[in-house]
Amino acid sequence: MPGPSPFMALAIEASRRVRGFTSPNPWVGAALVRDGELLATGATAPPGGPHAEAAALAATPDARGATAYVTLEPCAPFEGKRTPPCSEALVAAGVARVVIALEDPDPAVRGRGIARLRDAGIAVEIGDGRDEALALLRPYFKHRATGRPYVIAKFAASLDGRIATATGDSKWITGERARDLGHQQRAWVDAVLAGSGTILADDAALTARPGGELAARQPVRVVLDARGRVPATARLFRETGHIIVATTAAVDPAWRASIAATGATIMDCEPGATGGVNLDQLFAALGRRGILSAWAEGGGETLGSLFAGQHADEVWAFIAPMIIGGDGRAAVGPAGARTIADAWRLRDPVVEQLGTDILVRGYTGEWEP
Ligand SMILES: NC(=O)c1ccc[n+]([C@@H]2O[C@H](COP(=O)([O-])OP(=O)(O)OC[C@H]3O[C@@H](n4cnc5c(N)ncnc54)[C@H](OP(=O)(O)O)[C@@H]3O)[C@@H](O)[C@H]2O)c1
Repeated sequence: MPGPSPFMALAIEASRRVRGFTSPNPWVGAALVRDGELLATGATAPPGGPHAEAAALAATPDARGATAYVTLEPCAPFEGKRTPPCSEALVAAGVARVVIALEDPDPAVRGRGIARLRDAGIAVEIGDGRDEALALLRPYFKHRATGRPYVIAKFAASLDGRIATATGDSKWITGERARDLGHQQRAWVDAVLAGSGTILADDAALTARPGGELAARQPVRVVLDARGRVPATARLFRETGHIIVATTAAVDPAWRASIAATGATIMDCEPGATGGVNLDQLFAALGRRGILSAWAEGGGETLGSLFAGQHADEVWAFIAPMIIGGDGRAAVGPAGARTIADAWRLRDPVVEQLGTDILVRGYTGEWEP
């Protein structure tokens, strides 16, 4: 498969810069070109603001006869829509040709934006940069297909697959570069998720701090706490940003009141089949809140449930050159695969070196765009 054309590559780059900042809308990039010359680029603004095509059109005085490169099918009119449809804007601007990386999976748009352009006599081509655009938009595609967020399971492990010692100590397994990449990931996702064990062991804040600075936009932090064990004094509640504590009806009302007093949202779920909270119900509820992506930080019990329930869509495994050994905590527990044939294998794995650590990432789970 050839890579994107040079102008589609610019549109993809524009979309990468706003990834996550437009949820629940897709992050789209556009480039307007005439006679081989770039007129303007644009990217989707946060909800209520202009879409990529409108932003690019606004940045050039005259787009007549131009080609628009867009990473996703331009939107079509539908009920409840907040912004003017981009297919109409492209027609009104007199654009001659539109090159689209991906058709929109949202039933409110799918095919209708393309039909509107073709009806107006605009030449439409589909598929330039498809793979690259899709790699960025997977959370949007999963959310529109299933109503649930795209889940990225992350862990930082020793060479022998341990994420903490037997005493629960885990600071730090990986080096600065790996940890900073983790913070960059937190900075674009809609939610960061962790089990109560991690909060109790590490007093983790779960905030996004790329480059050591608190990011202006923070992800929603989601804590799984079926039995109400995380105290309202935990550091997490002192940092700014929205927190959701997923719990069950069985918890002590006094604990519930103390958590509510911190300003966190309490989300009641059914108990899970093997304890904890029911993740399927939780993810459906997060999806209804417009959460498209979740970065799951662990610990091992949480990741085990995510894999067992087929909730994980992508894995980011940071591996450090150290051995913890003994009863160190497994990265993914407790059930695990019974046979190698049952193991969760990564699709399209990528290996990167980060200082002396390595990152192995790839796709997993049942969902495929
Ligand atoms: N190196 C790393 O990447 C990394 C990352 C994170 C954590 N850690 C380490 O991992 C250790 C904590 O891991 P852990 O496995 O003990 O705890 P964990 O996965 O953080 O939390 C597990 C707890 O979460 C609650 N929970 C609620 N719903 C759940 C569900 N559906 N599935 C699983 N758990 C659910 C359960 O308690 P309730 O029943 O009370 O709800 C469960 O005991 C710490 O030592 C920490 O330092 C390392």
